[in-house]
Amino acid sequence: MGAAIFASQSSSSIANRLSQALGTDLRIFDSKLFPDGDSYVRLTERPSSSEAILVNTLYPNQDKKIIETLLMCDALGRGGVKRIALVSPYLAYTRQDRVFLEGEAISTRAIGLALKSAGISRIFSVETHSHEAIEALEIQVTDVKATRPMVEAITKLPKQVKYIAAPDFKALRFADEVAKNLNLETFVFSKQRDRTTGEVSSELVKGHALNGEPVCIVDDMISTGGSIANASTKLKEMGAGPIFAVCVHALMVDGASAILRRSGVEEVWGSDTVENEFTRYSITDELVTAIHGS
Ligand code: R5P
Repeated sequence: MGAAIFASQSSSSIANRLSQALGTDLRIFDSKLFPDGDSYVRLTERPSSSEAILVNTLYPNQDKKIIETLLMCDALGRGGVKRIALVSPYLAYTRQDRVFLEGEAISTRAIGLALKSAGISRIFSVETHSHEAIEALEIQVTDVKATRPMVEAITKLPKQVKYIAAPDFKALRFADEVAKNLNLETFVFSKQRDRTTGEVSSELVKGHALNGEPVCIVDDMISTGGSIANASTKLKEMGAGPIFAVCVHALMVDGASAILRRSGVEEVWGSDTVENEFTRYSITDELVTAIHGS
């Protein structure tokens, strides 16, 4: 894919890394908010090709970022672009990929329809929440895996970890792949989430007593920190030493840091799918390979 890259201002860092690696031009949209909060975007140069790669990671302020994405697609379409590939390293609204309680919306499907009708014909994202989410989007999705850079990040933690822990069954693939690469044992917890309150509780499914060994808990994302904090509390009760949390998308909503610290987590490391104070490793190479191969 040799199309030029267009990006929102908030995703300009990762877009810049992508454009350098892909050797393509980068154009950053002008954007602002009207006094009442409406979003505004402007493309200051007409696209030179009928294909475009649009980069926008959908966090924080995912609702605004989705509107901004739709507006950027409109501007690209007006500039003659016929095919848009969205590169959204973190794709919001992928957790409500089905109806859990009667009467709910399938948010993933609704967002997918909006993106599709704006002209997006394919999406590149990293560790998309689930297979069901990819189906619900109803757009061709390339789901980029983050295992390799995550493994590399874990080898750079301040302590050499002796065990890898999965806070729930969903994180088991990561945990097993990471543990295999590092030749370590995996501990597994099962997690129950109250669908109404969002509260989580965890039980140990696989693991044993510890004697001060460092442990790394891995997951695709950290939002409230509840899932990892529960696993960390249990690991401390089992005798774990320093605990680290390494995820792909460190959303880290208000209060997550404190919850994780109280549960014994010493450091949280996330990737550059969401750039913030927790960003400690990059998934750019994986995205570049996926885009190159498309
Ligand atoms: C759940 O399926 C995800 O993989 C994460 O475990 C979850 O979204 C993390 O959320 P929180 O940090 O709020 O527990």
